[in-house]
Amino acid sequence: LVARTVATGRPRVLDGLAAAGALGLRIAREGATNVEVVLNDKNPRAAALIRQNIERNAIVNARVVTEDLNGHLATNHYDIVEVDPFGSPVRFLDAALLSAHRGSVLAVTATDTAVLTGAKPEAAWRRYLARVRHTDAYAEVGVRILVGYIARIAARFDKAVQPLIAYAAEHFVKVHLRISEGAGRTDTVLRQLGWFRFDPLTGAYHPADEASDPGVIGPLWSGPLAEEGVLTALRPTAHTGYGAARILDGLRREASFPPFYAENNEMARRAQVSPPRLARVLEALEVRGFRATPTYFQENAFKTDAPWADVLEVYRSMEG
Ligand SMILES: C[S@@+](CC[C@H](N)C(=O)[O-])C[C@H]1O[C@@H](n2cnc3c(N)ncnc32)[C@H](O)[C@@H]1O
Repeated sequence: LVARTVATGRPRVLDGLAAAGALGLRIAREGATNVEVVLNDKNPRAAALIRQNIERNAIVNARVVTEDLNGHLATNHYDIVEVDPFGSPVRFLDAALLSAHRGSVLAVTATDTAVLTGAKPEAAWRRYLARVRHTDAYAEVGVRILVGYIARIAARFDKAVQPLIAYAAEHFVKVHLRISEGAGRTDTVLRQLGWFRFDPLTGAYHPADEASDPGVIGPLWSGPLAEEGVLTALRPTAHTGYGAARILDGLRREASFPPFYAENNEMARRAQVSPPRLARVLEALEVRGFRATPTYFQENAFKTDAPWADVLEVYRSMEG
C-alpha cells in the first residue's frame, strides 16, 4: 500500500531480506504497475523459493539476487528499500542509509520490540544508544526510539529522515522514512529528537534534560509519526487486511495529538479509583474542553491534548 502511494515514475524497489518473498512479491503485484522489484536473500534456498513463487504467480516485474544485503547496497541504489530482518535491523542500516538518495524511501522493520519498548534497558543502550524504560506508552516509545536512532545515524552522513508512516503492530515496529540530504535539513530533524522523563506516580511524560536526569527515556523522535499527504493518499484495497486498516484508521485519528498515551487501568490505579469505562474518561476530558481519542497502539488506552495533571484530576473526579 505504502509503496504504491509514495512511488512515482518507474520506481525500483529492493526487498533486501526477502526470505520466501512475501513482501516483495506483494509490492510487485499490488504496487504501481510499472514498479520493478528486486528480491534479495543471501540464502540460496530462499532465493530458489522466491523464483518458484515468481513463476507460480506469473510475476514479470520481479527478479532475484542472492547477495549479502550490505554488499549489495554498496553498489546498488533503489527508490525504495525494505529491510525486514529477524530481530534488530541495526546491522543493515549504515549500508541502507549510505545507498539512499534524496527522495528515496527506507522501510525498516524491527522485531526486537522488548528492547525498543523498555523491557531490556541495557540492550537498548548497547544496540540503539538510547535510554529506554517501561512506560504506559511503551509501544509508541518503541516506534519513536527506532525513528530517533535512524535519524541520528543518518545525520552522520548529512542525511535527514522524515517519517512517512511509522507504527507498531503486535510483534514488530515498522517505519517508512523519506530520505533527504543536506546539513540544514539534518539539523532540523535532530532538533525534533528529545528526552522525556516518565513519572510512574502520575503517568506524566515531562520533557527532560539528558545530562541532569538519570530516569530519562530518549533520544526519541518527538515529531509526527506520519505525513498528512501519505495518510490522505493511503486507501485500503481488497488486499488490505483488518489489522492494517485498523492501524491506518488509528494513525489518521491520532495524527493531531501530542506524543504518548495513557492506559486506563494504570491511571485509575494512580488516582486510587476503580477503573472507569474508557468512553467515560474520554467524555469527561471533552466536557472540560480537551480532545481525547482511543489509541490504536493499545487496548483500553487513549491519547489526549490535556495536560497530564488534568488527566489524573479527571480520574479523581470520577469515583462513584
Ligand atoms: C525475517 S526474514 C525476512 C522475512 C520476509 N521479509 C517476509 O516478509 O517474509 C530474514 C531473511 O533475511 C535473510 N538474511 C539474513 N542476513 C542476511 C544478509 N546479510 N544478507 C541477505 N539476506 C540475509 C535470511 O536468510 C532470511 O531469509
